[in-house]
Amino acid sequence: MKSQSSSGLSFVLVLLFSSSWAASAQNHEEFLQCLSLHSQNSNSFSQVIYTPNNSSYLPILQFSIQNLRFTSSNTPKPTVIVTPSHESQIPTVIKCSRTHGMQIRVRSGGHDYEGLSYVSELPFVILDMVIFKSITVDTETRTAWVQSGSTIGELYYRIAEKSKVLGFPAGVCPTVGVGGHFSGGGYGLMLRKYGLAADNIIDARLINVNGEILDRKSMGEDLFWAIRGGGGASFGVILEWKIKLLSVPLDVTVFTVDKTLEQNATNLVHKWQSVASKFPEDLFIRIIIRRVNSTRDGKETIQASFNSLFLGGQDRLLSLMQKSFPELGLAKEDCTKMSWIESVLYFAGFPRGESLEVLLDRTPLVRLYFKAKSDYVKEPISKNGLEGIWRMFYEDEAEAAEMILSPYGGKMDEISEYAIPFPHRAGNLYKIQHLVYWEEEGEVAAERHISWIRRLYSYMAPYVSKFPRAAYINYRDLDVGVNNQGNTSYAQASIWGIKYFKNNFNRLVRVKTMVDPGNFFRNEQSIPPISLWRKKKGD
Ligand code: FDA
Repeated sequence: MKSQSSSGLSFVLVLLFSSSWAASAQNHEEFLQCLSLHSQNSNSFSQVIYTPNNSSYLPILQFSIQNLRFTSSNTPKPTVIVTPSHESQIPTVIKCSRTHGMQIRVRSGGHDYEGLSYVSELPFVILDMVIFKSITVDTETRTAWVQSGSTIGELYYRIAEKSKVLGFPAGVCPTVGVGGHFSGGGYGLMLRKYGLAADNIIDARLINVNGEILDRKSMGEDLFWAIRGGGGASFGVILEWKIKLLSVPLDVTVFTVDKTLEQNATNLVHKWQSVASKFPEDLFIRIIIRRVNSTRDGKETIQASFNSLFLGGQDRLLSLMQKSFPELGLAKEDCTKMSWIESVLYFAGFPRGESLEVLLDRTPLVRLYFKAKSDYVKEPISKNGLEGIWRMFYEDEAEAAEMILSPYGGKMDEISEYAIPFPHRAGNLYKIQHLVYWEEEGEVAAERHISWIRRLYSYMAPYVSKFPRAAYINYRDLDVGVNNQGNTSYAQASIWGIKYFKNNFNRLVRVKTMVDPGNFFRNEQSIPPISLWRKKKGD
């Protein structure tokens, strides 16, 4: 009896599976036909479409994937990858995807921590913006237009090509794409001086769900507000950004001072918490915590690296440090003078003297398995609290774990928490990024490391922001909440939405309801429209 019912169930499952597979194969064929039917020149898509039958499909899919967790053979793969070469192709991709029940995942730099730009459980197309990488820098108006498939390394390079005294306050790793990075906020070492990348966007061009190409004027201030920090993927396909370029001195000063527990690291980290957000805004000192082998006796210890960019000269830096943080003992020999663009290479981990051309290389420096989380700190963590973190870093799974503490204050305190969707402003001393890396393939290794970082996150709860326990969308973490696969309720999405956006979540929902009421652009953490409004408006 038991075996009969289980074989019946298997039969039903096989039927269900094969019918959904057949439906998806049919969707895929119809989708491809639709593209050629709607393209003005029927060949226009032939060079930019990749299906699993094509030998370039896998290399293209894997090219920009950062997190090896999403490269396994059982990770869901796109039915089709389109790498548009002209913006006029994108409305057709949107139209055909809508007609044939395919989801679109837009990918620019592929750095999403949870792979949302290239993984979906539902049949999907990747719209990979990799060819959209033109950058036009205008030093007269101190602005630049940057296409969404550009990386921040390419942007920094193109700025430096034209000027030694202009820069832009975006992230540290050169291979990050501006499509995802700017639409989620985007910060780097000039955050205390100039705020986030998204704070310095002055126009944008985007294609909406109806295939219309809009700029700031035609999209209106609500949608323009939403895409600067609210995550682009909920609202359309961003084609390009216009950004404000900002002054950097001819020479900056950098340093990295490493201190282990034996060298007073606990007291130094403790003190840093109350001074780092109050330094003048030209000074940014972050801390990277890791487990290392002590140089003294080879035993394992915890190391805090004080890693800093100062937008000024060494003498002013030394006197400032002497006044506000003498305990670190910063000396002349620790400081190096260089141009701003050389400092970009320094913080990206390149050796001194490396050619600037490395910024144009989109291949990731290293690719590992990883899981990350974020936190905001409003009150200094006690020394006891810090010692508890160190204990967790001695556990096996934390061999390659890191905690990166980035100070706020300065410009971040001056910008209203409603100015753009990114809400984490005054009142935050610093942000934490928790990271765990591993090299071993497979579920078991992944489970062990992910469970370690989840335990660390639980341990941190008393020491970090509460109600909500705030998080940064660009450090995407599906543990903070996910949507249902179909239509998600406001209540369900607000579980993660309030953490990323606080009260700005409500305005994002209003904008989404206006611009994509049918929720075509969606993923596990996309802003949902309110369906009740939809009914009232008769959409
Ligand atoms: P990806 O292409 O994966 O897109 C991310 C999200 O944006 C997805 O939801 C995607 O659909 C959407 N999207 C992408 N392009 C779009 C477009 N054109 N239109 C609409 N939606 C689009 N962050 C930070 O603030 N400071 C830092 O220093 C770093 N450093 C860093 C280093 C490394 C190694 C990694 C892996 C990540 C970071 N990040 C970071 C995080 C980074 O800002 C975040 O992952 C960005 O979303 C990455 O943008 P990409 O375009 O590369 O990602």
